Amino acid sequence: MNVVELDHPLIEHKLAILRDEKTGTKEFRELVSEIAMFLCYEAMKNVKLEKADVKTPLEKIKTHKLNEDNYAFVPILRAGMGMLDGVITVVPNAKIGHIGMYRDETTFEPVNYFFKVPKEIAKKEVFLLDPMLATGGSAIDAIDLLKAKGVKKINFLCIISAPEGLKAVSEEHPDVTIYTACIDKRLNKNKYICPGLGDAGDRIYGTK
Ligand code: PRP
Ligand code: URA
Repeated sequence: MNVVELDHPLIEHKLAILRDEKTGTKEFRELVSEIAMFLCYEAMKNVKLEKADVKTPLEKIKTHKLNEDNYAFVPILRAGMGMLDGVITVVPNAKIGHIGMYRDETTFEPVNYFFKVPKEIAKKEVFLLDPMLATGGSAIDAIDLLKAKGVKKINFLCIISAPEGLKAVSEEHPDVTIYTACIDKRLNKNKYICPGLGDAGDRIYGTK
């Protein structure tokens, strides 16, 4: 499978606080954003830089820079929005799209309600954002929508993933690399990730 799991004590530490049911909305939101920043750092490890001439206060050098315009972040609403602050801290001039998706509470199937992506998205490398990868249904449909717009290079960034979701996305979209902070044990009968962190959207927005 095309999956990269972050393996770092700082991530385990931050995840432990994030998962804790006693962690409140403010701290939860801050941690989602911070972990997203680390995921972005890892996911951009192999991006191509462009040649650049820079003059330091001491001398001229030939170096390299990122053309931020070649990249787009696309959060899956609602919970994916919680990751956006973190990634745009690292790449502030990347373009941003939005995909509205919710999981039907009885069928667990994703329902798409919004789709708006930057102009010329087909020419950009996309980083799709959603903190939770459970059955994989939402991610698969979001990737289908992006591919239908001609996007060639897609990375999926999530905080917690279930083995079932990783398998489903990898089988449907083997060309997409999945970056996850942690692979959890399993899904429960309500298709929630265990041990997980509960409902990411509700915890980010304090809606329950
Ligand atoms: C959650 C989560 C993912 C989806 C994952 O969203 O943020 O989008 O469920 O489940 P799946 O892998 O089984 O599709 P939810 O439907 O709760 O919507 P929300 O972000 O608006 O809370
Ligand atoms: N969505 C969530 O927010 N959490 C889960 O565990 C599964 C889907």
